[in-house]
Amino acid sequence: MKRLNVGIIGAGRIGKVHAENLAFRIPQANPLVIADVNQQAAAAVADSCRIPAVVADYHEVLENAEVEAVVICSPTDTHARIVGEAARAGKHIFCEKPIDHSLEKIDQALVEVARAGVKLQVGFNRRFDANFRRVRQAVVNGEIGEPHFVHIISRDPSPPPISYVKVSGGIFLDMTIHDFDMARYLIGKEVEEVYTCGAVRVDPEIGKAGDLDTVLIVLKFEDGTLGTIDNSRKAVYGYDQRVEVFGSQGAIRTENNYPNAAVISGAERIHRDLPLNFFMDRYTESFVTEMQAFINAVLEDKPTPVCGEDGRIPVVMGLAARKSYDQNRPVRLAEITA
Ligand SMILES: NC(=O)c1ccc[n+]([C@@H]2O[C@H](COP(=O)([O-])OP(=O)(O)OC[C@H]3O[C@@H](n4cnc5c(N)ncnc54)[C@H](O)[C@@H]3O)[C@@H](O)[C@H]2O)c1
Repeated sequence: MKRLNVGIIGAGRIGKVHAENLAFRIPQANPLVIADVNQQAAAAVADSCRIPAVVADYHEVLENAEVEAVVICSPTDTHARIVGEAARAGKHIFCEKPIDHSLEKIDQALVEVARAGVKLQVGFNRRFDANFRRVRQAVVNGEIGEPHFVHIISRDPSPPPISYVKVSGGIFLDMTIHDFDMARYLIGKEVEEVYTCGAVRVDPEIGKAGDLDTVLIVLKFEDGTLGTIDNSRKAVYGYDQRVEVFGSQGAIRTENNYPNAAVISGAERIHRDLPLNFFMDRYTESFVTEMQAFINAVLEDKPTPVCGEDGRIPVVMGLAARKSYDQNRPVRLAEITA
């Protein structure tokens, strides 16, 4: 069996998830080296995942002739630069979302990728979740006829620290970006226009940082389908991740995932435990499936399932959503040029 030699850049929250999956869940992957400016963090992940080499400077990963592909898990503001450098070094690239907050930087990185002819996959893992895949399949198979509405509910269990909010790029580029990708993925069409209502209902500090914590976005697709995305930074009952597509011949919806299926019935009420609490628990399998898809795409020389353009368009949607909120009017994506 051919195995792909992989270098991992960034050993934080998501770097650890990908390292574990590459090491233990994907037999065709061979993680050779992990880089992190925090060498202790890299060493800890290397140790638990039996990765033979640890470096502080990611350039050493790019210069390593044995490394065929890199998995970029460092902070967002490093992605575009590393994507460009990795492409020039001839490495195939898996890059965590988003590629950048700036379209100019994304475009420069995508030019480098195209010029080098390497593969790029962007980390929109939710496409690989079994529930959402089934919804997409129903749309593709025509099981619900022609789609009329898509509704996406995506609420976090609690807001991130204010220090993170300040550098996150704002709710649209940090959180809604996954839902923008989901909307395009489920319907299989492009969004032409967005209209945003936003509020600060969870924590005034988020408002003071210039961000929102409660947003509702109306989407108009090119084929006339309408959509909504409902985001909150705080759902007291846990991670709330549901979608519905309604069409001419019916509807398909998915509910939350639970740690168990037990239902407790009493004299006063019937209840159950809360949903899986956050993305690490809820989307565990999707992270494995997306990485397996990347490794397969490289080994079998097929297109990656989430390409550079798929990484770029949700950023355009995020910028349009913020502009819509700021100007209190519908904004066409064509207005967003940089
Ligand atoms: N797909 C998802 O659901 C998902 C989930 C979480 C994070 N992410 C994305 O992954 C990225 C990382 O997020 P995180 O939560 O793991 O952050 P994190 O802060 O936990 O980890 C980032 C790591 O990168 C290291 N680092 C910083 N600069 C570096 C450099 N120049 N070279 C090498 N390492 C460097 C840091 O020391 C840290 O260990 C972000 O872009 C984020 O948007 C995606």
